[in-house]
Amino acid sequence: MQPFDLVLFGATGDLAMRKLLPALYRRHLAGQIPAGSRLLGVARSELTREAWVAQVEASCAHYAGGIDSGKWAGFAAFLDYLSVDGSKPESFERLVAVLAGREDVTRVFFLSTAPALFAGICDQIGRLALATPLSRVVLEKPLGSDLTTADQINAHVGAVFAEHQIYRIDHYLGKEAVQNLIALRFGNTLFEPLWRRGRIRHVQITVAETLGVESRGAFYDQTGALRDMVQNHLLQLLCIIAMEPPISSDADAMRDEKLKVLRALRPIAGTDVLTRTVHGQYRAGASATGPVPGYLDETGVPADSDTETFVAIKAEIDTWRWAGVPFYLRTGKRLQEKVSEIVVTFDDVPHSIFGAHSGSQQPNRLRICLQPCDSITLTILAKKPGDAMKLQAVDLSLDLASSFGAQQMDAYERLLMDVVKGNLTLFMRRDELDAAWRWIDPIRDGWSQYDPRPKGYTSGTWGPAGASALIGRDGFCWNGEL
Ligand code: BG6
Repeated sequence: MQPFDLVLFGATGDLAMRKLLPALYRRHLAGQIPAGSRLLGVARSELTREAWVAQVEASCAHYAGGIDSGKWAGFAAFLDYLSVDGSKPESFERLVAVLAGREDVTRVFFLSTAPALFAGICDQIGRLALATPLSRVVLEKPLGSDLTTADQINAHVGAVFAEHQIYRIDHYLGKEAVQNLIALRFGNTLFEPLWRRGRIRHVQITVAETLGVESRGAFYDQTGALRDMVQNHLLQLLCIIAMEPPISSDADAMRDEKLKVLRALRPIAGTDVLTRTVHGQYRAGASATGPVPGYLDETGVPADSDTETFVAIKAEIDTWRWAGVPFYLRTGKRLQEKVSEIVVTFDDVPHSIFGAHSGSQQPNRLRICLQPCDSITLTILAKKPGDAMKLQAVDLSLDLASSFGAQQMDAYERLLMDVVKGNLTLFMRRDELDAAWRWIDPIRDGWSQYDPRPKGYTSGTWGPAGASALIGRDGFCWNGEL
């Protein structure tokens, strides 16, 4: 790999310290940061290089599994720091001298700042001609708060960088388990004939967290679960489950197919929100560590906030493959368990030869667990040992971590290395993002018009009762809620 310069805006922020810098350090330990590379932290704080490097070391010690004292000095040598105030155009001029003479090196601008600063930062990169042909820009979510604001940001970014230079990150796509999902669907012949209406009854996608908003109350209150999780992570998972087989694994071949799914999502508009969505907000309750406060008592959250911390949606995809197959999406904070999973429930057998008391009523089920484990479980029916013909569900399980035994790469490690290598496959294209906002915006409008107040739910439960009713009306229940 060739050396690169990575300019990290927001270098003292939470994401940089918890995820990005530890990920780069781990790639250094794996020998993947080529000699001659530079990691330039940029933030508003007037810090010395030494003070910032000390912060980075402390966060790597905590989040990268410790410091290897023999290798830290090598990593620290890559690091440099520059104070730039994103709201003051003249302060960007400091970057010119630092980057001068490195035009033949891959240059990555990683914007890990508040999205309100994205347009301004790109304007300055353009004004100072810092975007070389070998440059790339990485944008963290949320990219805008609706289609209009996303368009504005994309217009500023697009004025400086060509689409093939823009990497819109969704860290879910960097998860090993999500890659496995692509391998499962398109590396095997087994599933494809069954992967459609008439064979699949319904699909559930759950991303449940036990944490609350932690220290991000002020940010989160402007965002909410629909924009923080559904618009990106859950819709991307839905796309991978529902997309047609792409002609190759090239970035655009994959993204073309995902885009078709997003465009085929049946709109949820007006009073549809009352029957096809549920939004909730956590109240005080309990987590594994003890009592926890309600959302309205979190720091930075206004006492009368209507921001949702839970969403459940019945999504439908209007295509030949998926007509009539509901996709139930659910995500929330302060739920009972931390779990991210996709559960595909197949149709019942057309006619049971075993009789009503044989236990043969359960459909086959494929569960793809993304977190906390990385596993695939196919539930089938088998005969229970004994005289009578009694059937019982048994699991065919594949635990991917123990099957391969290899140490996994964290999502950000993979995605950062993909940026450096110029691989866009796991990043969102502008038209995908637009299509996702086009589907999300009417849901927000519907809520504000017909259902403005999210339903309260007790922390440590599975969310508002309405979420069970949403799926229960179709005769199903959420996985784990039997
Ligand atoms: C982020 C959201 O994108 O994803 C957070 O902004 C959320 O609110 C996080 O906690 C969940 O990610 P993971 O990888 O822990 O499931």
